[in-house]
Amino acid sequence: MPPPLLELAAAVKRYGNGEGVGPLDLEVAAGEAVALIGPSGGGKSTLLRLLLGLLAPDAGEVRLGGAPLADDPAVRRRFGYVVQGGGLFPHLTAAGNAALVARHLGWDRGRIAGRLEELAGLTRFPRDGLARFPAELSGGQAQRVSLMRALFLDPEVLLLDEPLGALDPITRAELQDDLRRAFRELGKTVVLVTHDLAEAAYLARRLVVLRGGRVLQDGTLRELVEAPSDPFVSRFVRAHRALGLPGEGA
Ligand SMILES: Nc1ncnc2c1ncn2[C@@H]1O[C@H](COP(=O)(O)OP(=O)(O)OP(=O)(O)O)[C@@H](O)[C@H]1O
Ligand SMILES: [Mg+2]
Repeated sequence: MPPPLLELAAAVKRYGNGEGVGPLDLEVAAGEAVALIGPSGGGKSTLLRLLLGLLAPDAGEVRLGGAPLADDPAVRRRFGYVVQGGGLFPHLTAAGNAALVARHLGWDRGRIAGRLEELAGLTRFPRDGLARFPAELSGGQAQRVSLMRALFLDPEVLLLDEPLGALDPITRAELQDDLRRAFRELGKTVVLVTHDLAEAAYLARRLVVLRGGRVLQDGTLRELVEAPSDPFVSRFVRAHRALGLPGEGA
């Protein structure tokens, strides 16, 4: 068996105020899609930042392909990351934000323009928005720029922190379709955060519930519904079922 592509081994991260996550154990195989769900403050964003090496664990280890994660720009380029809230640079246009790293790597104009065209199609981003600055875009458009930036170099791993949160329901459903197809066809390894259980189950077979910085349950939607590991998981699932989302019984 090859080692898991992504791995947290008893990883602990504490912020200065004593809050944080861990010890966390998580293994993600190459080509697998995992959705992180759970309450606000549960540790989802911190877990992504550990996987990406933006935060170093205080204890335990983070591994990529079986080796300790190296603090190296070449390693970071294997990841596409959508930071929660988008994280666009206000002084760069949509195109400038999306193509930032490609430009840094010396891609020529034609190649950048071609890739922008492809990604604008994939994310349904309006072509005339590419020359605009983030402040001149809607929230959903800005979010699609963040996605384009994460996908730009065609990275093997995608870490997506609430990538679809600010989209209207129709665009969101369309983009869910496109993302699911992209994950499957391109064989991406994906860890994504969402507050929407239906979206989590649509995009990933495996759902990881985080609360208080620990993994409460790791399983399929069916397992969460039928064999919740904790009363909180039942409450979390029920809260979504009350809205008529998947899992609602006949
Ligand atoms: N920079 C920081 N400094 C201090 N504490 C932090 C910092 N970032 C996060 N925390 C704390 O760490 C814990 C985990 O936060 P994290 O941002 O990972 O949660 P989350 O699951 O992403 O929440 P949300 O759904 O609201 O985005 C929380 O208790 C939070 O208050
Ligand atoms: Mg978060």
